[in-house]
Amino acid sequence: MTDKVFLITGASRGIGAAVARRAAAAGYRLVLTARSPGPLHALAAELTSEDRVIARTVDVTDWTALSGLVADVERTWGRLDVVLANAGASVVTSFLGDGGAPPEEWRDLVLTNVYGPALTARATIPALRRTSGHLLLTGSAAGRGIRPGNLYAATKWAVTGLAQAIRAELVGTGIRVTLLQPGLVDTGAIPEHRRGDPKLDPDDVAAAVLYAVGQPPHVDVNEIIVRPIGQQN
Ligand SMILES: NC(=O)c1ccc[n+]([C@@H]2O[C@H](COP(=O)([O-])OP(=O)(O)OC[C@H]3O[C@@H](n4cnc5c(N)ncnc54)[C@H](OP(=O)(O)O)[C@@H]3O)[C@@H](O)[C@H]2O)c1
Repeated sequence: MTDKVFLITGASRGIGAAVARRAAAAGYRLVLTARSPGPLHALAAELTSEDRVIARTVDVTDWTALSGLVADVERTWGRLDVVLANAGASVVTSFLGDGGAPPEEWRDLVLTNVYGPALTARATIPALRRTSGHLLLTGSAAGRGIRPGNLYAATKWAVTGLAQAIRAELVGTGIRVTLLQPGLVDTGAIPEHRRGDPKLDPDDVAAAVLYAVGQPPHVDVNEIIVRPIGQQN
């Protein structure tokens, strides 16, 4: 058992919930966040006892809420060891205007997927510095390849750049930085037209996260790309 503290944004379902399950099983105390309270509190109650979990509704685009949470975690448990900046949104887009979400919905996508992990990093890194901790960011295989008309992929390219910029600044601090780039994962977030494609299980991605986190302190796993067999790019 470890008394280390593991914070996950977007923890209420999908990849975040799978990581929370594995982190609880590994003995971490948990800080779980998402916007909707119902699924979040249900997961917290399922995974561990009340004294080992903080479940908090936080929008990752809300600096005050994020920084307040980190202060509360340090006040309560005196430490923060691992952070997974995972909350993300996905909508179908077309620059030609051939279907997809209307441009009014693009703002939330960009804010959640780019501003969100940037704020999460800024809010948590001072605490991670005190524990020589570990920051992981959920990017995507879409943040490496070309996807026609896909603004979501562009936000994940931004996460790729963000992880590299953060790692470059943190050299010498003792903090590890991991960019996670999953291929298609079987969660509610995948678009209808990709339902029939090969998919990973969320737990496959969680296993990759715990692999990176479980390395000896001098080993910094900087990138993990994990796709289902048969995914092209
Ligand atoms: N599924 C895939 O194929 C796939 C592949 C590669 C990468 N990813 C990435 O993996 C991450 C998790 O995706 P998923 O498939 O597990 O999605 P999901 O099942 O839709 O879960 C998304 C999580 O993020 C939370 N969330 C969304 N917007 C938020 C916001 N503004 N502030 C705080 N929490 C927010 C959601 O809860 P609330 O709605 O209650 O806030 C939920 O807990 C995302 O970054 C996604 O881009 C997914």
